[in-house]
Amino acid sequence: MDIMKLFGKSKEVDYSLDSENIPQHIAIIMDGNGRWAKKRQLPRSLGHRAGGEALRDVIETAAVIGLKYLTIYAFSTENWSRPQDEVSSIMQLLVEYLKKEAKELHKNNVKIITIGDLSRLPRDLQQEVEKVKELTKDNTGLRVNIALNYGGRDELVRAFKKISSEIVAGNRTTDEINEELIANYLDTAEIPEPELLIRTSGECRLSNFMIWQLSYTEFWFTDCYWPDFKGKDLVEAIQDYQNRERRFGKV
Ligand code: IPE
Ligand code: IPE
Ligand code: MG
Repeated sequence: MDIMKLFGKSKEVDYSLDSENIPQHIAIIMDGNGRWAKKRQLPRSLGHRAGGEALRDVIETAAVIGLKYLTIYAFSTENWSRPQDEVSSIMQLLVEYLKKEAKELHKNNVKIITIGDLSRLPRDLQQEVEKVKELTKDNTGLRVNIALNYGGRDELVRAFKKISSEIVAGNRTTDEINEELIANYLDTAEIPEPELLIRTSGECRLSNFMIWQLSYTEFWFTDCYWPDFKGKDLVEAIQDYQNRERRFGKV
C-alpha cells in the first residue's frame, strides 16, 4: 500500500501500518459539524457542507489502505428532532453530495450501499441513492455504507417484525431464532461486523449506532470535529487499533 505517496514522505509522522492486520470494516460516527461551524461563527448548514467535503479524503485513504467496508453515520432516526430547516438542509446536502461525487466514486471502483429505513427520506434523496447504488453496483473496491435514517433500535424492531411475520406465516419456528438468524435480518446482513469504531468531536457515546454489530468492536475517540478529520487521522486510529489485544471473552 502506498500510504506514503498519499501523505508525502514525512520524517516526523509515522504512517506505517501492519498490512497483516488491517481491519476489514471501520464504522464512523461523523460528529461535530455544528460545533465546527459555531467556532467559525458560521451557520450549522455550512458545518454539514464542510463535513461532506471531509469525506472525500477519508474515502480516498480508506481505499488506498485496502479497507473493504467503511460505514458512515450520516443521519440518525433521532436527527428528525432537529429544527426543520436544519433537517431540510442536511437532506439537500446529501442529494448534492451524491450528485457531485457519484462519478468520482464510480471511477475509484467504490460501491455505495446503505443501511437504515430509506422510506422516510425525501423522494429526491431516495432517487439519488438508488441512482448511485445502481451506477456502482458492480464495483469491487471499497464498499461505502451510508447510514441514512438509521437507528440501531429501529433496525432491530424492523428485523423482529420480519421474523415474527415469517413465524405467523408458518415459514419459521421460534426454535430457529438465534444470534445468526437475527443478524441475517438486520440491514447489515451482508456486511461483516466492524472491527473499529471511530467517533469524532469528543463525545463518547453510541447515539443508537449499530448497537448489535458493535458488541465486540474496538472504539477510538478523537476531539477533532468531523470537518477537520483527515485521512491521516484514519491511519492514526488504525495504528492504535493494531496495538490492541482483542480477547473476545477469552484469556
Ligand atoms: C454531525 O454533526 C452531523 C449529523 C448529526 C447529521 P452535528 O450536527 O451533530 O454537530 P454537533 O454535534 O452539533 O457539533
Ligand atoms: C450522531 O450524532 C448521529 C450522526 C452523526 C449522524 P448526534 O450529534 O446526532 O448525536 P447526539 O445527539 O449528540 O448523541
Ligand atoms: Mg452531534
